[in-house]
Amino acid sequence: MTSVHVKELHKTYHNASEPTLKGLSFSLPDGKIVGLLGPNGAGKSTTIAILCGLVKADSGSVHIQQLPQDNAHREAIKRKIGIVPQQIALFPQLTAMENLKYFGNLYGIKGKALHQKIEEYLAAFGLEKSAHKEIRKFSGGMKRRANIIAAILHQPELLILDEPTAGVDVQSRSLILQFLREYNNNGAGVLYTSHLMEEAQQLCEEVVIIDEGHLIVQGRPAALIAQHPECKNLEDVFLHYTGMALRD
Ligand SMILES: Nc1ncnc2c1ncn2[C@@H]1O[C@H](COP(=O)(O)OP(=O)(O)O)[C@@H](O)[C@H]1O
Ligand SMILES: [Mg+2]
Repeated sequence: MTSVHVKELHKTYHNASEPTLKGLSFSLPDGKIVGLLGPNGAGKSTTIAILCGLVKADSGSVHIQQLPQDNAHREAIKRKIGIVPQQIALFPQLTAMENLKYFGNLYGIKGKALHQKIEEYLAAFGLEKSAHKEIRKFSGGMKRRANIIAAILHQPELLILDEPTAGVDVQSRSLILQFLREYNNNGAGVLYTSHLMEEAQQLCEEVVIIDEGHLIVQGRPAALIAQHPECKNLEDVFLHYTGMALRD
């Protein structure tokens, strides 16, 4: 079964001179950790935003677990997926607990069940002592961990994260990656973007490399490396396909 099916996506932002997505297509298997990889400006965040229904494509289609991402199915899809955006989406003046209660309520989780779930996750993410601290006083890594909790309170079958390990310290990164492995071991799919090839090579069962708004190559990291005798790791494969030109 495919969990995500993206077909011929085109997107040009208003006032942009160039299209961002130029006929992007790919399909992802169910229940795997998949990396959506590409250089800066490749269109990763735009793709994620379209998958989640936050941005509208000009043309093309998205299906999440066989449901089309359209007005009629947006709510049903929202319950199946958890979204961790690239920018922290928490209220800075509220505490971690207040933020997480707010997000839990959005998904219809309330009362004692919600409180227990929040406490369990705060502990799992090393934030139990900061439950009543305002988010604005959190470090970057703490904010990122709290942002992940906000996305998983409703136990989504597919967790989608945009650069969850960007700008966090080694300890936070290690905890986040370990969490993604465990979440996936419990049966959920994980789709995450990164530009760190070493990390993706270790974590992902499958990678989708995109550049300039279209698919470059997809496969298991080990298979992609094996296909290119001159490449010793995923970073070499990535450079082989995307070239050495610097990006803005
Ligand atoms: N809201 C927007 N308005 C105009 N252009 C945008 C917007 N968001 C992204 N872009 C452009 O689309 C391209 C791809 O961006 P993005 O999807 O963020 O790529 P990535 O996440 O791979 O770095 C970039 O050139 C960026 O400037
Ligand atoms: Mg991005």
